[in-house]
Amino acid sequence: MKRIRIVIALLAMILVSCSDSPVKDEISLEEIIADTGIDTLAQSETLPDGFQLLESTCFACHSPNPSNQNNVAPTISEIKIAYGNFKQEGQFIDAIQLFLANPSQETALMDDAVVQYGLMPQMSLQTSQSKAIAQYLYQNEIESGTWFTTEYPKEKERLLANKENMSYVDRGFEYAMATKSVLGKNLKGKINSEGTLAAVNFCNLKAVHFTDSMSAVYKADIKRVSDKPRNANNQANGQELAIINDFKVQLENGEEIIPVTIEEKNHVFGYYPIVTNDMCLKCHGEAGNIEEETASKIALLYPQDKATGYATKQLRGIWVVKMTK
Ligand code: HEC
Ligand code: HEC
Repeated sequence: MKRIRIVIALLAMILVSCSDSPVKDEISLEEIIADTGIDTLAQSETLPDGFQLLESTCFACHSPNPSNQNNVAPTISEIKIAYGNFKQEGQFIDAIQLFLANPSQETALMDDAVVQYGLMPQMSLQTSQSKAIAQYLYQNEIESGTWFTTEYPKEKERLLANKENMSYVDRGFEYAMATKSVLGKNLKGKINSEGTLAAVNFCNLKAVHFTDSMSAVYKADIKRVSDKPRNANNQANGQELAIINDFKVQLENGEEIIPVTIEEKNHVFGYYPIVTNDMCLKCHGEAGNIEEETASKIALLYPQDKATGYATKQLRGIWVVKMTK
């Protein structure tokens, strides 16, 4: 079995990793970058594509259709309009990047949305990725219904045509990111509308259906595994445990986690970290973080549960993306 480590421009923490940085009076983008070391990441093989990132990472929560309201987040059109005061491209990009680097009360402009939906989870994008997204938002009239009906389908076609040329590690990343955002959307929606207890039933990967063209094109399967699983079916095997341990060491040393790909005869496996944030602790934290009702429901459903006692920014497990060559 050949093991290749590919240094790519991904962001280390793939799952909603909520880095709640300490509150500062005025936070600049430079300070955040200095804090997180985002800029020291390895360079991407290819330049990030703003539309592609929006499609895989943002549209699950922020509908690209201006007339499509959901209970999870404002539409992308509402966001563009809220940032309309930044007339210059540079200012607009800075403002969006500032929020994406650290979604917080201080950086949020849409106070009503924060109250209505709760704060956005940290998406852990690399600066070149958040810049590409912001640039795309600025340069396209994404807030107009015309963009959605005429340009959006064309952009999707363009992506589909490009997909065959993507490297496996980029494909796996996109697949894991898309799953993460859909899962995050479902979980957030359920917690917002019905509370943590009701969300327990829901926190199953089976709830995520990919009707998207992506799963067909990539011929990929995705699963989450852990060294401390809640569901025994998600127990990591020997190979996966070795990767989990590697990722943990990198995380403990404060390094960016470098995803791993392994090639076999007919398949390529991509492994990407899943890191905890605040939201996870409601069901995976210390006893004190988990509401009593939720805890007893979990105990009932998963008598063998090992997945508690986590703090934020710890490795909860990994995505395993199996792609057919
Ligand atoms: C899991 C759901 C979810 C995903 C995925 C998501 N967002 Fe959000 N986002 C939210 C919610 C909820 C809000 C409103 C509350 C707030 O402002 O934090 C929001 C607000 C925003 C805002 C406005 C912030 C403000 O108040 O000034 C921007 C900009 C934004 N998102 C960009 C993005 C981008 C770009 C992506 C993709 C990289 C993305 N979001 C992915 C849930 C999500
Ligand atoms: C509402 C409760 C709830 C919340 C909040 C929650 N989880 Fe879970 N999580 C579960 C349940 C229940 C399972 C078992 C699902 C199954 O049976 O496959 C699970 C399973 C998992 C698994 C698969 C491995 C395993 O232990 O079986 C991972 C990885 C995981 N969760 C990560 C997270 C992360 C990261 C967050 C925060 C972003 C989070 N979870 C938030 C309830 C929750």
